Amino acid sequence: MSTTFADQLSESLNDALANTAFASDLPEGFRAQIDQAQNRQFGDYQSNAAMILAKQLKRNPREVAADIIDAFPESDLCETPEIAGPGFVNFRIKTESLANRLADLLADPGRLGVAKTEHPKTIVADFSAPNVAKPMHVGHIRSTIIGDSLTRIARFLGHTVLADNHIGDWGTQFGMILWGWKNLLDETALETDPIPELLRVYREVNAKTKDDDALRETCKNELVKLQGGDADNLAIWERCIELSKIGLQKIYDRLDVQFDHWLGESFYNDQLAPLVEELIASGIAEESDGAICVFFPEEEKLADKPAIIRKSDGGFLYATTDLATIDYRIKELGADAIWYVVGAPQQLHFDQIFRVSRKRGQEAELEFISFGSILGKDRKMLRTRSGDTVQLADVLDEAVERSLKIIEEKNPELPDKEKAEIAEVIGIGSVKYSELSQYRMTDYIFDWDTMLALKGNTAPYLINAYVRTRAIFRKLGNDFEGVDSITLTADAEKDLILKLAQFAEIVPAVLNDFRPNTLAQYLYEVATTYHKFWEACPVLKEEGAVRETRLALCEATGRVLRCGLGLLGIRTAEKM
Ligand code: ARG
Repeated sequence: MSTTFADQLSESLNDALANTAFASDLPEGFRAQIDQAQNRQFGDYQSNAAMILAKQLKRNPREVAADIIDAFPESDLCETPEIAGPGFVNFRIKTESLANRLADLLADPGRLGVAKTEHPKTIVADFSAPNVAKPMHVGHIRSTIIGDSLTRIARFLGHTVLADNHIGDWGTQFGMILWGWKNLLDETALETDPIPELLRVYREVNAKTKDDDALRETCKNELVKLQGGDADNLAIWERCIELSKIGLQKIYDRLDVQFDHWLGESFYNDQLAPLVEELIASGIAEESDGAICVFFPEEEKLADKPAIIRKSDGGFLYATTDLATIDYRIKELGADAIWYVVGAPQQLHFDQIFRVSRKRGQEAELEFISFGSILGKDRKMLRTRSGDTVQLADVLDEAVERSLKIIEEKNPELPDKEKAEIAEVIGIGSVKYSELSQYRMTDYIFDWDTMLALKGNTAPYLINAYVRTRAIFRKLGNDFEGVDSITLTADAEKDLILKLAQFAEIVPAVLNDFRPNTLAQYLYEVATTYHKFWEACPVLKEEGAVRETRLALCEATGRVLRCGLGLLGIRTAEKM
């Protein structure tokens, strides 16, 4: 498979630079960059190298651009580059290259031109990680969906990714849960649907403890007993974890999210004491007011924010567990990199533990991939009408229900079973897409109407574009059968090929800053470009090579949309 247009152009451009009269004045290690053109009127790709160099060489940028173009080799790939505006060098891909690229794309259905990385890593992806017996709310949805998509993309690029669900199964909530379990539990409800029942119990105890000091104390004692290894409490705890996992798994199945490991916080319990001892012995941690802390005098913003790793009462903390977790992931799982997909409020925690890891000489790349909040239409934290946190399972149910209504309207004659299946695809896909199409750091507004709209940057629009690429073959009566000769006659065809070819440029770029939204935006552009092609270029009315080429374009578009949506964890439907 050939390299991307951007890579090929970049190579030629840098060769050209080496052949200019000012080659010896180039800054050490200078590489000119190629970008996809913002405005296609002037070309398909552009470089601002001349403008950057002009500053350094103290010359006029347009003159530098002209020199670069003079040195640019004659090529099969693109027309002679042109100067635009203040000194951009613009490149237009030759029609012949576009035609060849379409043939390449069709010959590579599995990867669609996307190269595997030359530096495969073992990555542990830490995402979702809800807290047992507490609600998995829409905040966890962001972590789950972003983490799953990044996992899929990294694997597609050739990395080994171990998805690890680091559930909170050893938190202070268990004091309340144990008491609630012993005093308030409805066994039948627990059997039928454990998560809501555990949640109900947790909420009830939580409310009761608000103005009942004695009860709060009792709950604390239950926790101490659990931590001390009390057999009864341990048995309840174990059952609670087991039931919660079953409940969570149901949600993950629905979301089509899989984990390789479920190493929750409790998994590290017996590693905490020796770890703290080791950190004291190596001089990284020290005693302060009875607690054991790691100080960071070297880092201004952490100067007065030590990480506490053992409390004065001997208890361990979230940070201690996370340090033990890093050890395990590096030593036992062989991690070269660990990705944490966790909300922005935990920034300080991760700053601290990453720094401790560095002090210990660990070299694994540690990435805090954080995200903002999901807001209601009132721009406040999303809540249910009764003021509770919104439950993920309820969101999914409602999404599917609303999608079913849309399908009923759009395609009433479909059999009910098919309608239900499509509604599941669209509903779940819409929830995922509304998440992934945003830059993760933005707080976004959760709004059913926007996310289920058939027009605009939404899952229904993209899935519908895919459906259209399929519908034409149904109409034709057979599947795509290959193409003998590609004949390009319209601009809309060329625009579409260029877009499709850029799949290979976009997918690897997602991991630069962990932004699945760049892939989402790209897929939206594929869909709109296809739409324009569809309006401008009749397919079945044509004959011979033109018709074949256009069918090939429909097929290639369908494949890119399907593969791209798949990398976002979104399924497609054949009809809708
Ligand atoms: N359970 C935590 C929460 O719900 C998230 C855990 C993230 N992962 C980690 N290794 N700390 O806030």
